[in-house]
Parts: sequence; structure tokens; C-alpha cells
Amino acid sequence: MTLRAENLSLGYHEHTVIKDLAIELKRGDMTTILGPNGCGKSTLLKALARLVKPSNGRVTLDGRDVHALNSRALAREMAILPQSPLAPEGITVGDLVKRGRTPWRGFLSPWSEEDSQACSDALDAVGLADMTDRPVQELSGGQRQRAWIALVLAQSAPLLLLDEPTTYLDLVHQIDVLSLLHRRNVDDGLTVISVLHDLNLAARFSDTLILLGHHGLVAIGTPEQVITPENLEKSFSLKSKVVPDPVTGRPMVVPL
Ligand SMILES: Nc1ncnc2c1ncn2[C@@H]1O[C@H](COP(=O)(O)OP(=O)(O)OP(=O)(O)O)[C@@H](O)[C@H]1O
Ligand SMILES: [Mg+2]
Repeated sequence: MTLRAENLSLGYHEHTVIKDLAIELKRGDMTTILGPNGCGKSTLLKALARLVKPSNGRVTLDGRDVHALNSRALAREMAILPQSPLAPEGITVGDLVKRGRTPWRGFLSPWSEEDSQACSDALDAVGLADMTDRPVQELSGGQRQRAWIALVLAQSAPLLLLDEPTTYLDLVHQIDVLSLLHRRNVDDGLTVISVLHDLNLAARFSDTLILLGHHGLVAIGTPEQVITPENLEKSFSLKSKVVPDPVTGRPMVVPL
């Protein structure tokens, strides 16, 4: 699996958000998109999942333009969790997660053992197995976020695109979710592309970082290549020191 953006320009009406971006993401990578509010992280993620049409250039999955694939085929290849998903009124956690199975089910085909297994595995993975009958609206922000992550896991796609999957989660649950994705990445070769705001967690859990600024791409590469005081100044106008994380040795940002 190779997901590639070629000469990609994105924007809304006359407003250009990203210009001439070229990136290539390979199967088995954990990639994180970083950058300040409003710089275009969600727009880029949506374009990779063809939810935004490029003003120029294209996105290809294994050489095929994503806009040329049918929705069902694409949904079996990639699952996307948008930044602020809205659950249908009154839906329970269990029913929300079941929606992840849609791309695998035929019209009127019965619910299969495989569908049930995928849903219960996903609910177990996020620790919501005992909340399947609860209405999503009645969950706490962090529980709701985990229900959405379970939906995406239940979709059983080899590529996940996650927009701020750790929003609303306390630190322990943030680490739980990132560790879970990392484990799936190592054990099953799951490819994960996410948007995060926590630079240190991103550096800890990612193979590749994509750092955007208000004028497009600032840096792409390993955490060591990307998380430098120069790049952080360019992207966030942040003055910082970067030191090795005492636990992992990965770069750790100390704002000045
Ligand atoms: N549907 C839209 N129509 C018009 N402009 C939009 C639309 N969505 C986003 N924008 C604009 O495009 C720019 C990039 O937005 P985007 O949501 O990609 O930023 P982001 O990096 O994800 O920010 P955040 O960290 O706040 O989530 C912003 O200036 C935003 O106002
Ligand atoms: Mg966003």
C-alpha cells in the first residue's frame, strides 16, 4: 500500500490552504500531521480520504487516483475518523460501532459472525465492552471519542486516517489509544495517519512526522529530523529547546 500526494494543492474558494505538496506514505508507517490551528491539517487528511477535492494535483492509492475508486472499495481500504463527528440522534454505542461494518455487508445480507467479532473486538480494544447499550449522547467526551475509534477499528481497513483521535481523552487514555494503534501497527501492519496536537506524544509514537505551518509544509521525516527548534519556530512561532525524552530518547519539546 502506498498513499501518495502529487503536486497537491488544496483550498476553499479563492483561499489556498496547501500548495504543491508531495508526500508518500508507505504501508506500515505511523504518520502524524502536526501544525498550528487553521494551517490545513484536517483539510489534508480529508483530501487523502477524498472528502476534499484538490484544486490541483492528485492523491493516489497504489497508483490509482482515489477519486476513481468506488466508495465501497475505498472504505474497505481506508477508514477515516473526522475531527468532530456527529452521531445520529439516540444511537447506542453498539449500533454506532456496527456502522463500521457497512462496507463489508451486502444489501440485505444477514449479520455475520465476522461482523459481530469485529465489533466486539473493537469495543474491547477501547474499553467500552460494557457500554454497548448506552446512548452515545449520554457518554462523557472521552468515552464518546473512544466509541468513534471503535467504529473505525470495526471497519477493518488496513489504513486509518484519524483527525485528533485523542481530543477529550485524559493522558492515560491518550496513551492507551496511541499504544493500541501502535500495537496494531506492529502486530498487523496497520497503517495509521493521524493529526495530533501533542508534539511529544507524536514524536514518541510516530515513524514519520509531517509538520505544516501557515504557508504549507515545513518539514517531513523522522521525529529527529522534524522536531527541531528551527522547524518549531517556523511552524508555530514557538521558541523551544528540544531534549531527548528520558524514557524513549525521542525528541521532547520544552517551550521557552
Ligand atoms: N469548509 C470550509 N470552507 C471554507 N474554509 C474552510 C473550510 N474548512 C476549513 N476552512 C479553512 O481552511 C483553513 C484550514 O482549516 P483546517 O480545518 O484544515 O485546519 P486545521 O489545521 O485542521 O486546524 P485545527 O488545528 O484548528 O483543527 C482554515 O483557515 C479554515 O478556516
Ligand atoms: Mg483540524
